[in-house]
Amino acid sequence: MKVLVAGSTGALGVPLVRALAAGGHEVAGLTRNPANRDRLRALGARPLVADVMVRPGLLRYGGFYGPGPASEALVELLRRRRLPVLHGAGVISLVFIQDAVAATVAALERGRAGQAYNVVDDEPVAWPTFLRALAEAVGAPPPRELPAWLLRPANYAHAAFTTSMRVSNAKARRELGWAPSVPTWREGVPLIAAARRNAA
Ligand SMILES: NC(=O)c1ccc[n+]([C@@H]2O[C@H](COP(=O)([O-])OP(=O)(O)OC[C@H]3O[C@@H](n4cnc5c(N)ncnc54)[C@H](OP(=O)(O)O)[C@@H]3O)[C@@H](O)[C@H]2O)c1
Repeated sequence: MKVLVAGSTGALGVPLVRALAAGGHEVAGLTRNPANRDRLRALGARPLVADVMVRPGLLRYGGFYGPGPASEALVELLRRRRLPVLHGAGVISLVFIQDAVAATVAALERGRAGQAYNVVDDEPVAWPTFLRALAEAVGAPPPRELPAWLLRPANYAHAAFTTSMRVSNAKARRELGWAPSVPTWREGVPLIAAARRNAA
């Protein structure tokens, strides 16, 4: 199949291009920055330099997490104790980055036109539970604790951390023949720590 990947240099795009190319697809990778051309070629894609408006598509992803760029910024904030946990924080649906890649490939190959699929793991988690577990696993100090109302003046951050998003992956499992290989944060968080140890 000929596939054009928008966002091909991002947290999802890089492993997705690699997986599609390895699966025998002919991949073109979109970037705004000509300096990314060689990187895209090395991943197995034909680089296309353009600036486009990206519209929400067929897949509704949970929050990405996993080794490398998917969680690097979060881990760095935790290590510097710059990311507090909030009392009254919401529950989020996450998806391990490699499972987001696998679901995207499955949707391209087997998804029904016009259908939307939730690409999330099996168990939503409260932000504080996830952040505390991640901090502990990577050897960061325990996050500070704050009441959620303190963030109210920062509308976007308040909404991001207090809104709950619980969605089911049943349709993606049923129709795409996909299932998360990392079913919950309990299995995923140690994988991030292990990848960091291996990279050190
Ligand atoms: N991160 C998450 O937890 C999460 C959760 C749910 C949904 N999503 C969605 O999943 C998608 C991928 O997320 P991500 O975390 O992989 O993103 P990311 O790491 O921030 O990467 C963004 C990518 O989009 C490209 N891009 C941005 N604006 C563009 C434009 N105007 N024209 C062409 N390319 C453009 C960038 O390419 P260049 O800089 O090379 O041009 C880069 O490859 C996004 O649509 C995001 O909204 C993400």
